[in-house]
This record gives sequence, structure tokens and C-alpha cells, in this order.
Amino acid sequence: MKLNFKIWRQDNSQVVGDFKNYEVSGLNEDMSLLEALDYLNEDLVKKDEKAVAFDHDCREGICGQCGFFINGRAHGAGNNQTTCQVHLRSFKDNDTVLLEPFRASSFPIVKDLIVDRSSFDRIIQKGGFVSANTGTAVEANSILIGKKDADYSMSMAACIGCGACVATCKNASAALFTSAKINHLNSLPQGQPEEYSRTINLVAQMEAEGFGHCSFTGACEIECPEHISLSSIAKMNFSYMKAKILN
Ligand code: FES
Repeated sequence: MKLNFKIWRQDNSQVVGDFKNYEVSGLNEDMSLLEALDYLNEDLVKKDEKAVAFDHDCREGICGQCGFFINGRAHGAGNNQTTCQVHLRSFKDNDTVLLEPFRASSFPIVKDLIVDRSSFDRIIQKGGFVSANTGTAVEANSILIGKKDADYSMSMAACIGCGACVATCKNASAALFTSAKINHLNSLPQGQPEEYSRTINLVAQMEAEGFGHCSFTGACEIECPEHISLSSIAKMNFSYMKAKILN
């Protein structure tokens, strides 16, 4: 199988980048797209050229480390998947495959297809935790949590912070990500003592990082590998109003 890659190359955020073409043959349709890039990189290194930089870790859709645009869509043409879950069987022989980094001013380019998503870390640092100021953590089974609440909290905790929601949003909004982090802990009894400060602080940090506002177009929920829906944002907005009034 042969693919014609058109890949964004940029040494760092201070220099201008450009697309470069790479014709790669000898590929197998069972290979993942990241394996095809490994294959290309081996060849580039042999030729003493710079390898294409891209983020990855688990390559199983778990860690959220991978992520770039594939033919104009965050994580590629399929819905609710990660970049590492894209296989070459989703392309035809001799196809052109356009790869470019996530585009958002809050995600500056580090190199080629890698962007800096530490803005997400700074949002979590503002309250994506439960404080236990003295002693050890309480035995988990001593706090009863209804199944509905536990399931909801787990569905929010599933967010892997890949950034596809931001990249695909026309406003580069991080509302889906931030709402998942807020709802995950606010819906549990352990998270309720810090409910108001968590909600206000995470939203404030999201704005300080320069992410845009949500206009409910819903692009984010289509690309989210973890099926987090727009209703999560509505819940965050309600929590925010409640926190502002009652805090
Ligand atoms: S590399 Fe871990 S989700 Fe893709």
C-alpha cells in the first residue's frame, strides 16, 4: 500500500512552518497511522533528515497523549476515536493524507505535529482534586454513593485531555474539557465541600488561558473519544451560576 503524506513541518513556535510531501510505499493496511509515521521516520533518519515529531504514549486510546488533524478532522474521519486508533485500512491505496497540528492559540506548536497542552494542566491545578488536609484518605467503601452518581462521575472522569474538543471548536473553547473535570468531582460526596471554589476557579483559569467561549455548535462531542456530551457543559454553566450566587 502506498500513501502520499502531506505533513506540517515546523521546528518551533517562533519560526514559520510549511507542508512537506512524503511518498511512503510498502505500508500494510493493518498498520496504525502512527506506525506508518514510525516507518516514515526510520527512512528519514537513514537519509539523515529530521524525523517527524508527533506525540504518543499508550497507542491504545487511553492516555490522550496523541492528537493531530488528519485530513482536516481532529483524530481523523471516524467519530469518537483517538489518533492512535486510526488504521491505514481507513484510507485507499495512493490516497493523500494531510496531517497538521491542533490549531488553537492556547495550544502553541512545540514542533511539527506536537502542541503544548499544558494549559489543560493549569486548569486542573485550580481545583481538579479533592483536599484531604489531615490523616489518611477515608476508606472508600465507607462513603455510600448511588450508582447513578457513580456512573455519571466515571463518565466524566473518562476525559483523557487529548484536546480534540478545543482543536475542532471554531471558538477554540475548552468548555467540554473543563466541564468534565468539574462534573467529575462535583457529582461525588467527596467533591462537594470544594464544589463552589472548584467551579469558579477552573472556569476562571480556562478564561485566563485564552480559550474561547462555547457557542453550543456541538463539534466537540462528535470528536471526543470518550463520548462526553454537550449536556456536560450545560451542567457546568448551571453549577457556575449556583456557585456565583451561593459562594
Ligand atoms: S497514544 Fe494514548 S490515547 Fe493515543
